[in-house]
Amino acid sequence: MTLPQPAVLLGGISPDVFLRDYWQKKPLLIRRAFPDLDNPLSPDELAGLALEEEVESRIVLTQGVTPWELRRGPFSEDDFKTLPERDWTLLVQAVDQFVPEVAELTRAFSFLPTWRIDDVMISYAAPGGSVGPHFDNYDVFLLQSHGRRRWKIGQHCDDQSPLLDHPDLRILRDFDEEQEWVLEPGDMLYIPPGIAHHGIAEDDCMTCSVGFRAPSHSEILLHYTDFLSQHLGDGQRYSDSDMRAANDPSAIDDQSIERLQRIVLELVQDKAALATWFGRHMTEPRYPELIEPQELPAGTLHEELQNGYGLMRNPSSRLAYRLENEEHLLLFASGEHCVLPATLLPIVQLVCNNDYLDCEALLGWKNNGEAWTLIEQLLAKGDLLLEGDDE
Ligand code: SIN
Ligand code: CO
Repeated sequence: MTLPQPAVLLGGISPDVFLRDYWQKKPLLIRRAFPDLDNPLSPDELAGLALEEEVESRIVLTQGVTPWELRRGPFSEDDFKTLPERDWTLLVQAVDQFVPEVAELTRAFSFLPTWRIDDVMISYAAPGGSVGPHFDNYDVFLLQSHGRRRWKIGQHCDDQSPLLDHPDLRILRDFDEEQEWVLEPGDMLYIPPGIAHHGIAEDDCMTCSVGFRAPSHSEILLHYTDFLSQHLGDGQRYSDSDMRAANDPSAIDDQSIERLQRIVLELVQDKAALATWFGRHMTEPRYPELIEPQELPAGTLHEELQNGYGLMRNPSSRLAYRLENEEHLLLFASGEHCVLPATLLPIVQLVCNNDYLDCEALLGWKNNGEAWTLIEQLLAKGDLLLEGDDE
């Protein structure tokens, strides 16, 4: 499939205009965003994935044993046979990790950082199927890949918006419809965080949701402080060598609180530590068990490459980098990091920005020991895989 250029994907506006006027601000409907879309997965193939143990899947029935009944996968073939004719949706999470053609869709969004993209969820709905009016806390591009779905958008929501009393699903009690459209295959709807939306299948249909990763403030604080605390010695403690005699021994005075503030502020002002934590956190894989350490090829790597092999990014791996200064860069690979000389920037960019690298792209680096070691380390860790080029 030919991926659309950004101007087509965004309906004629440039990425800069999209980011300025819509991203995280207001919804945008784009007709024929993917004009050459080949549905990357058939309904049967999606159902097949939902039978697998390691794949996260759910079925929502508009009216099952209870209203909005949620069933969790993995499912059996019999589970599908007993579903009604209409009014249910199958949702499969992170399909991009299992189907390269689905992962490829995300490359059309390369005007956004890859580490912001979380996963591609795909839903299949029987006519009338819906997961109810709801809002998400992250941006989402809803790409219609098969059949037609009616999308309604509504009000701005937040943590205070009233929800139905449901044990598992966050369905809005009220939905103030503002606009609605019927999406055809290739059409796409961008929805910013917090905007109520409600999709209802017109016919049997499929939707690919490209969702984004945005850590909550609570997650940032919790995980960053956890990361920092691993590097702090037990001897680094609250200290008050400047203390004066207490007027009231049970009172906690302002000076004590200011001493604490200085400790906390000093720790969060460490930009290098924050960047290291952030890169690790944003590249944490959803399924770490799918990134397994590997044996290096028996022959030399460049011989393997010359024999028609190339390097594929493990679909479960997440890679990103940060140029720290003129001398160093940090490479983040699936929740871990290493410090590299800045001279390796071109090979790091090559590895991070490509899903597949053939022999020609790599052989220019074979006499650079540091670059070659890096590739071997990523192979050994399982972030890169040696693959025949079957593109
Ligand atoms: C769906 O595909 O049915 C739901 C996707 C979403 O609303 O985020
Ligand atoms: Co949603």
